Amino acid sequence: MTPRTPSSNGQAVVAVVGSANLDLVAHVPHRPAPGETVLGSGFEQHPGGKGLNQALAAARVAPTAFVGLRGDDDAGDLLLAALVRHGVDTTRFAKSAGASGRALITVTPDAENSITVLPEANSRLTGTDVTAALDALRPSLVLSQQEISSAALTAGARWASLNGARFALNASPNGPLDESVLRAADPLVVNESEARQLTRDGADPRTTAQELARRSRSVVVTLGGAGCLVAWQGRLEHVPAPKVTPVDTTGAGDTFAGVLAAHLVSDMALVEAAALATEAAASVIVTARSER
Ligand code: RIB
Repeated sequence: MTPRTPSSNGQAVVAVVGSANLDLVAHVPHRPAPGETVLGSGFEQHPGGKGLNQALAAARVAPTAFVGLRGDDDAGDLLLAALVRHGVDTTRFAKSAGASGRALITVTPDAENSITVLPEANSRLTGTDVTAALDALRPSLVLSQQEISSAALTAGARWASLNGARFALNASPNGPLDESVLRAADPLVVNESEARQLTRDGADPRTTAQELARRSRSVVVTLGGAGCLVAWQGRLEHVPAPKVTPVDTTGAGDTFAGVLAAHLVSDMALVEAAALATEAAASVIVTARSER
């Protein structure tokens, strides 16, 4: 079976296998300490989930499909509508009985966030669902994250390797990761803390990136305002980020991963794609989510 190549016929070339959550966002003056109650200054709801966010970002660059599960509730309808509005192929975003995923997000004035994810429908996506969806979509690149079951994640990586497609993994949030999935990643995309968790040491980011590049095909370690490190085949390059004043950093990593993956389907060099992804991530964090 031959994977599809980028084309202008609207057929998806990127398949994002991942989570969709309704984000319930509270703006607070400071993050509550254990046992403390804080009065918030604002509340918003947004379509979110690392998978959905990455699909929206990728769809700005290349034809993209989303593979996932939503619940049969109002939140599920809202998540579907957001993907459709942004031109994402939702033929494999199925509905299952029960609740859709939710994320409880606290945003502080320094633009940082704390997130609690309730996976709900996302956790019911099976490896069989993923394989069937990818057989139908036949993408050139599969992009995944860790808000779905390890069976679903492994099925995506396996489908890509059996069908000559590229597999990109944003190993976020941290969690147990099969070494075979890590080995297939091209690239593995992680932030500094996720990189440290995977290597279990306190080494500097450059050393960590090089170690991870020996366990996967290529690695991008994002460094927030300092840009990112790209490591592959014994090489290491630093990509700087534009200086910006962030308003809300929620979803910046997702924009980065989605834009990066979508540029890679046209065989762009990883460092060049990482530079475009860095710019895209910097441009979303300077606006409130309601304005994105
Ligand atoms: O990366 C940001 C995302 O993490 C949010 O949209 C939330 O749903 C969680 O998945």
